[in-house]
Amino acid sequence: MSQRVPPIFDYDETVIPKWLSKWRFTFKTIRKEFYSSPRKNLRNPNVLDQVARRVTQYSGQTLHPRDLLYLHENKFSPQIEETFFKLTEFLKARIISNVDVFFSYYATGITIRQVNKDLRENLITDVSRIWSLDQAREVLSRYPSIIKDKKLFNARVTVEIIDYLIPSNLSFNQTETEQRINQYLKASKQPVIKIKKGQILIHRGEKITDQHVQLLQSVKALTSPAIFMTRILITFSILFLFLYMLFTLHLGFRRFWALQLKDAFAFLVITMLVLGAMTFGSKWLQFIFSSYGFEQLTDYLIPVSAGGIMLQLMLGRTAAYTFSLLISALGSVFLEQTFAYSVFSFILTATAIHTVGDCRSRNDLFKCGAWSGFSAALVIMAFGCVQSLGFKETPWVSIFASSFFCFLSGILATVITSFLIPFFESIFGYTTSLKLIELANFHHPLLHSLMMKAPGTYHHSVIVGSLAEIAADQVGANGLLARVSAYYHDIGKMNKPLYFIENQSPGNNPHDHLQPSMSAKILFSHVKTGVRMGRDYRLGNRVVDIIEQHHGTTLTSYFFNKAKELEEPSLGKVEEAHFRYPGPKPQTREAGIVMLADACEAATRSITDPTPGKIQAMVHHIITKRFLEEQFSDCDLTFKDLQIIEVQFTRILVSLHHHRIEYPGQKSALHSHPESKEGQAHPSKQSHPHSHSHSHSLSHSHSPVKHGEKK
Ligand SMILES: [Fe+2]
Ligand SMILES: [Fe+2]
Repeated sequence: MSQRVPPIFDYDETVIPKWLSKWRFTFKTIRKEFYSSPRKNLRNPNVLDQVARRVTQYSGQTLHPRDLLYLHENKFSPQIEETFFKLTEFLKARIISNVDVFFSYYATGITIRQVNKDLRENLITDVSRIWSLDQAREVLSRYPSIIKDKKLFNARVTVEIIDYLIPSNLSFNQTETEQRINQYLKASKQPVIKIKKGQILIHRGEKITDQHVQLLQSVKALTSPAIFMTRILITFSILFLFLYMLFTLHLGFRRFWALQLKDAFAFLVITMLVLGAMTFGSKWLQFIFSSYGFEQLTDYLIPVSAGGIMLQLMLGRTAAYTFSLLISALGSVFLEQTFAYSVFSFILTATAIHTVGDCRSRNDLFKCGAWSGFSAALVIMAFGCVQSLGFKETPWVSIFASSFFCFLSGILATVITSFLIPFFESIFGYTTSLKLIELANFHHPLLHSLMMKAPGTYHHSVIVGSLAEIAADQVGANGLLARVSAYYHDIGKMNKPLYFIENQSPGNNPHDHLQPSMSAKILFSHVKTGVRMGRDYRLGNRVVDIIEQHHGTTLTSYFFNKAKELEEPSLGKVEEAHFRYPGPKPQTREAGIVMLADACEAATRSITDPTPGKIQAMVHHIITKRFLEEQFSDCDLTFKDLQIIEVQFTRILVSLHHHRIEYPGQKSALHSHPESKEGQAHPSKQSHPHSHSHSHSLSHSHSPVKHGEKK
């Protein structure tokens, strides 16, 4: 109601000028009456009584005995009078109210009726222009230091005197306000019935009257489907606007912004779930805390950032930050909260997204909860302090309670995330960092049986994992994903471990008795089997994709060349396509890195006398070859990335083979330029033909194989 009928205040602009002239008159007259004649005995207490009476008579106000004595002792001097009027200068232009309108009518404004100007009325919406008596007094107390007039006589004492004398020129007119409200109600003909929460509208057995029907109809109107639908419609429009932003405003960062339809759906589902949970959670928390008196603050306990953390883990930071903006805008609308709440939800969510980052361990998740909660608590504490400025008593209990709730909500968000994320992972088919952390555990059944059945492959995979992780981190790709995918990239070899060089014992190579085309098929099968096992063990799409792409469309050149040698024109031409892995080529940077790490690790393993030069040449050769074969045409690896990868691989592989390098005669090679004699040795001469694709890409049938593994 107060929104439609602003309260009426009477304003008398003559109050302050009249007050000032009365005091001028009081000073002048009393000086003349009592202090102009030197004969008067000023020490006589009767004189002081007389002065007091005169002051009240002339000014209409009574002075405090202490102040009266001070003025009496100074004989109401012209200096004090001058100080009095200089200090009251600023009051002439102010509207000073006898009640604090700022806090009561901040939202609605007030109507000011000018009592000495034909009751002219003005609606004032910006009530901050109106001072309360307290505010006027506060300004007065600081005024001497503001005007910096050194000639002012005893300004501090005079301030204390004026302090309680200041009159207000604006007063609340209760009668008029009530009359206006009644008039409004009559005009609108709508009776206002206040219903308290939980109040029973009709008792059992009570006769239903017209009033009851009206009451029920109006309650129904408040919760009607039309209002509900409008809310839903507006919410969806805002959501789609943000989704449109996600899809179109990529601002040149396509790599981070390109979202699929599935991603948009996940974004929509999570946002709707969070909004729904906020609405119900808010009611539930209010109910629980209603007996503690904190029901206004319990919304700060809602862990809004959980949605942001889940989106960061599933879709990355662009979607997550968009969510944080969206939730801070919609959250306070849904909960009918203040601007501070919007700021709270943005800070909590954005800090959580930032700190959770790539999330390399479960600890990172809880660190993120603590940090985000702490940041939000600080911001809300600052807000509370700013908002309580001007209050006589700062509501410390509320400020501390809301800050504590903020901190708790940060922690709660991470707890909820760790419970819910496995469901979302399986529903939408995402592989989040949390899932990857789980997979990186060597006790995983797949890794365990790989170790038991194919120890050579297991060892190879662990080294590939380290290579891929470090290189991926260096080029800004997802190191955790690269490492975990590398652990699992060759799980398909478990079925036929002995067909792969790393698991063979010397002189025992089953490929010797097979047709080259058959051998190639067995090599290809490890990818297919790996993908199937990955799906069966729910490794997640991102890891399974890398298993599928880790050989790209490379050629099993050893078996191809062998087939060429054995080719008989009568039986048809040997097709190169039959000796190529089916692909697809690496689709992500992580897949490309795993492909390179895999090939480089296997090839380095086959070098007889590894020196830094030989290793460097080998790594360079493999990376160049894969690049020239256009294996990276579908992923975003740049030239610069490839250079960084080469440097990192060489560095790690050299340090891994360190113990094999330090022969007395080769010591110089360690410290010599990479382009030294060893470095120039053609890498193909050290490669082994049976280490399937890892080295076959650079070997050919003419390789003079020296080491004992061959035949
Ligand atoms: Fe492989
Ligand atoms: Fe491999």
